[in-house]
Amino acid sequence: MTVTNEKEYEALLRIGKIVGMTMKVMAEAMRPGMTTAELDAIGAAYMTAQGARSAPQLVYKFPGATCISINEEVAHGIPGSRVIKEGDLVNIDVSAELDGFFADTGGSFPVPPVKPEYAKICNCAKAALQKSIDAARTGQRINAIGKAVELQARSCGLTIIRELSGHGVGRSIHEKPNIPNFFTKRADERLTDGLVITLEPFITNGSGRVYTADDTWTIKTPDRDRTAQYEHTIIVRDGAPILVTAVD
Ligand code: CO
Ligand code: CO
Repeated sequence: MTVTNEKEYEALLRIGKIVGMTMKVMAEAMRPGMTTAELDAIGAAYMTAQGARSAPQLVYKFPGATCISINEEVAHGIPGSRVIKEGDLVNIDVSAELDGFFADTGGSFPVPPVKPEYAKICNCAKAALQKSIDAARTGQRINAIGKAVELQARSCGLTIIRELSGHGVGRSIHEKPNIPNFFTKRADERLTDGLVITLEPFITNGSGRVYTADDTWTIKTPDRDRTAQYEHTIIVRDGAPILVTAVD
């Protein structure tokens, strides 16, 4: 969507804050020995208390309130009986709706003791998100974002998962345009003022190849590769974008 008035802007910030806080509450509650279903329940309770509804549940009938993906799982992991262990790399992705407005955020959280390799992937993905935020300006082409992500990944000696992209958001969870995390001539559309999109680079130490598991949801790497993703919903404008899902 494109934000055209103050009412829409405020509604987006409301749901942005809720999803940002949900992810924060979950990340802070996460402990080794906990199942992903237990962690999801903490997020679900927080969202419900704020009056928000899980977007993947609402829009896709996803079997969980949030997506929790561990180690070889990249995205869309179904909360369940899997136990979070010391040294795991856990991705939490939260998207939700309030009053017809949607926001989407995500982050990767290594469980201590943190393996140096995981810290490297996480730091690179955080830097890639920052570079993509810096590239998202009114009048810039969409592919400037992918180019920035690609340069960052290369500088770390790591790889992008090309099948996963940022996307428009706001009135539903996935809207146009698609925001690739790599440079492609085809993404030459210019960003316009007030456009609401997510930025979400996925950075891996593997080949970048992924597949969908038998559960039909979980996106996985085919081997022992690890991935980190950080995601914000933003509003494009002339200067630095508004980070809709940022919380302190
Ligand atoms: Co997203
Ligand atoms: Co997300």
